Amino acid sequence: MSFFKNIFKKSKKKEIDYNNLPQHIAIIMDGNGRWARKRSLPRSVGHKEGAKTLKRITTFCGEIGIKYLTVYAFSTENWKRPKSEVDALMALLLEYLKNAETHIGGKDVRIKTIGDVSVFSDEIKKEIDRVTKLTGKNTGLELNIALNYGSRDEIVHAVKEIAREVAHGKIKTDDINEKMMIDKLYTSGVPDPDLLIRPGGEKRLSNFLLWQSAYTEFWYTDVLWPDFREEHIVEAILDYQNRNRRFGGI
Ligand code: FPP
Repeated sequence: MSFFKNIFKKSKKKEIDYNNLPQHIAIIMDGNGRWARKRSLPRSVGHKEGAKTLKRITTFCGEIGIKYLTVYAFSTENWKRPKSEVDALMALLLEYLKNAETHIGGKDVRIKTIGDVSVFSDEIKKEIDRVTKLTGKNTGLELNIALNYGSRDEIVHAVKEIAREVAHGKIKTDDINEKMMIDKLYTSGVPDPDLLIRPGGEKRLSNFLLWQSAYTEFWYTDVLWPDFREEHIVEAILDYQNRNRRFGGI
């Protein structure tokens, strides 16, 4: 890192208005495969580098005062990938969880998952449980890791729960409202993301937080996730702070 680049990074960070931080940042961690291909390495190496980036970015977001960070780690569609890649991702996830104390950015991070984790191996489920409990009382950044997560699946899951309550006579159909839906989503208790960042050059949501991102500000970059750094978060936040959020008003 050159001296001047370092100075530039520091001065940019100073430009952040800490009274107007996005409370919740969501990230689609894309580009691991391309990062590896460019170096003639297996895709799994790209994912491994991606896990390192996740740790850095988690630490940084906690340090600057972001309250919630939600990351897309494994989607309901990712099972379609070759078995070898799925296995590598599962192994990486297990390692990441096992080392959560030292691996996941900062002592004060509270780790949770969103998505249907019932399909994972017993070993992974046990680790998810352990890490969630271990960090449950931490009061710093909340890191929500989306695992076997798909927004359409999440919405169907929420609708089924509400339908059950109607069937059991707990609520009436006409009483169904947005708040009930929000309470049944995997993200219940987490405010909607203010800023959604997608590295890797694509400009789509890919079944991530469809309900929650109704008024989210999007920020894209061609930088691949393993190359994504603190300076890119700063750039995204500065851009976010220049936007005029109207939430449908004027
Ligand atoms: C998308 O890049 C990335 C994924 C499907 C996996 C994301 C996983 C990590 C960053 C690993 C760290 C996470 C944990 C919790 C261990 P891609 O493979 O689609 O990249 P490409 O578009 O370049 O092929």
